[in-house]
Amino acid sequence: MIKKNIILIGFMGCGKSTIGKKVSVNIGCKFLDTDLKIQNDMNMTINEIFEKYGEPYFRKLEKDLCKKASLNAPMVIATGGGIIKDPENIDFLKTNGIFIYLKSSSEKIYKNIKNDNSRPLLNVKNKKEKINELLEQRIPLYEKSADITVDISNIEIPEITSCITDIINNMEKI
Ligand code: S3P
Repeated sequence: MIKKNIILIGFMGCGKSTIGKKVSVNIGCKFLDTDLKIQNDMNMTINEIFEKYGEPYFRKLEKDLCKKASLNAPMVIATGGGIIKDPENIDFLKTNGIFIYLKSSSEKIYKNIKNDNSRPLLNVKNKKEKINELLEQRIPLYEKSADITVDISNIEIPEITSCITDIINNMEKI
């Protein structure tokens, strides 16, 4: 069994939650979805939290979770796409975690989320343009934080899941 957290990072809609859950089952450890935990704790959707309290409040809840998560290893953690914006989040999570970056093309991201309005930052007229704008700002941050990068642009969930499971299983040996 691994001792550290496995932290999945990557842009909105790349599949962190779905993949993280499956990987956690494969390797037999706990799973934490930061967005889901925040929504359950608040009994509100992310859209409602942004609307009622604003983005900074959501970011504070996210940061509190990052702090706590590093004390509760081992878990597979699916993070929100904006987690890498705050260097303190990275510091907390790196104390006891390995970052796996799910790198996805903007075309695939758009395809995954074009009909989904659950993300306040993408509730705009031109989703494609917004995705590209945010990707431009964030790609350097994902790359800087990543210990391991998996390009998922041309592979589907089952293959991504087994690829990440293999990576973790091989990690256990070293
Ligand atoms: C956000 C990503 C979302 C969620 C919130 C903000 C972001 O999570 O945390 O809407 O800033 O990229 P997902 O990456 O799971 O969509």
